[in-house]
Amino acid sequence: MSLSTTSPRHVLRLSTGLPTSDGAGVKLTRLIGTPQQPPVDPFLMLDAFGTDRPQDYIAGFPPHPHRGFETVTYMLAGRMRHRDNHGGEGLLVPGSVQWMTAGRGIVHSEMPEQVEGEMRGFQLWVNLPAKDKMQPPRYQDIGPERLPVVELDAAGGVVARRTGDVAPAVTAAGAVAAAKVVAGLFAGVAGPVQAEATQPLFLDLVLAPGASLVVPVPSGHHALVHVFAGEARLPASGGEATVRPGQLAVLSAGDHLPLVAGPSGARLILVAGRPIGEPVVWHGPFVMNTAEEIRQAIADYHAGRF
Ligand code: CO
Repeated sequence: MSLSTTSPRHVLRLSTGLPTSDGAGVKLTRLIGTPQQPPVDPFLMLDAFGTDRPQDYIAGFPPHPHRGFETVTYMLAGRMRHRDNHGGEGLLVPGSVQWMTAGRGIVHSEMPEQVEGEMRGFQLWVNLPAKDKMQPPRYQDIGPERLPVVELDAAGGVVARRTGDVAPAVTAAGAVAAAKVVAGLFAGVAGPVQAEATQPLFLDLVLAPGASLVVPVPSGHHALVHVFAGEARLPASGGEATVRPGQLAVLSAGDHLPLVAGPSGARLILVAGRPIGEPVVWHGPFVMNTAEEIRQAIADYHAGRF
């Protein structure tokens, strides 16, 4: 007799993103941080943006503040210019990630560096614990050349390690799946992003039609899956759930996630992080632990102390 110590995660809740707009009128789909799908500690919000209509993105995100958490921008297509009130500036290009720790305060803008063409990507808000909320702001700006991609065969073996676009999956002989490792560990490859408190796993995954893949996810982490092309079948209570483009699945506890791609394959992000377990008082771009800290954040912002 043997006892298995592994347990698969399954879909606890499946929801469809809410079309909305933010900034100066950028159209996006809010996947968490809505009435239908409240935050999943430590993740406050997840937005997907994707359009080739300039009028849906051209107004961008003019200067606005943040305090108390991290914003993660992962670009798939298009270019965004980032500037902040501390003299920081950077260009987010396709395949890059910016992991910004707002800490005690930053005022920044995120504006398209293009007037036509496609703009596509994600912005994730990751909370910080009380002890880290007032740390100095910092950036991890990571270009595509620093984001590892690993390709796997049907048995889950690594057949290639490279950088560049994660899709199409099959560039190496025998590969049926590929993962871009933004944060955390997958198939022995570590992503470059470091976030001490939440120890995030952030993967951009591509599966060939019908391919299956098992993704280890640290037990104790909260985990989400968002499919944005094709479809993926995940375990669900009493069987399977098919997750389709625009949908978000919140996963149960467990230490791995089995995925099976649909007939046209699957493209998805898998995001997991260690929950913080503290009270959350959220007011617009400020996320603190108490109402008093929110009042202080507003006062500090208006007094120019960011
Ligand atoms: Co911002």
